[in-house]
Amino acid sequence: MIFTVAIDGPAAAGKGTISRRLAERFGFAHLDTGLLYRAVGALELQGQEPVAAARALDPSDLERPDLRTPEVAQAASRVAAIGTVREALVEFQRGFARREGGAVLDGRDIGTVICPEAEVKLFVTASAEVRAERRFKELTEKGIATDYQKVLTDVVARDRRDAERTDAPMRAAEDAVIFDTSEMDIETAVGRAVEEVSAALDGR
Ligand code: CDP
Repeated sequence: MIFTVAIDGPAAAGKGTISRRLAERFGFAHLDTGLLYRAVGALELQGQEPVAAARALDPSDLERPDLRTPEVAQAASRVAAIGTVREALVEFQRGFARREGGAVLDGRDIGTVICPEAEVKLFVTASAEVRAERRFKELTEKGIATDYQKVLTDVVARDRRDAERTDAPMRAAEDAVIFDTSEMDIETAVGRAVEEVSAALDGR
């Protein structure tokens, strides 16, 4: 069975949690595409040329312990604006999306560019303040020292860069279902996502 769930949206909107839970629930494979850009960003911070780094990306690069840091997130968003970096990562993502057995991919351009034919498209969002609050809590729990104001500034800067770039800007596909999770807890958001996927599977 070929079945793709595309989950897009701005930074720290809950895409990761929803994707992981959907993958578990339906037995689909999951790809957090942000990790690809974070890995290229981390390599760039070490002095590598980003296009070459993207072309030579290795699965072990996705295991680096520093990928979740705010510095790497900003670097990811900078290298993600380079068209040739994105191009180098397209084929892998498309192959993953259409693999046998079903797949969930989360990112910024999954429903618009990587897999416009996805059977389910969700655009998960929330106010910048709510997202910064969630990310601040997440980083603090991971032992990464930061403060709320800095996280908010980072999230807003990254969203703007991601939405305004020419290549594959972050936006909801025309046929995406939009989830504003500002006032929705994660269990409710996961439940709604499960309903969308179940309905699409039933309709096949
Ligand atoms: O976890 P969070 O939502 O903060 O970010 P992420 O999904 O790990 O993505 C990190 C950065 O990679 C984003 O700010 C984007 O610039 C870029 N990205 C992208 O351009 N396209 C994707 N499909 C996924 C991520």
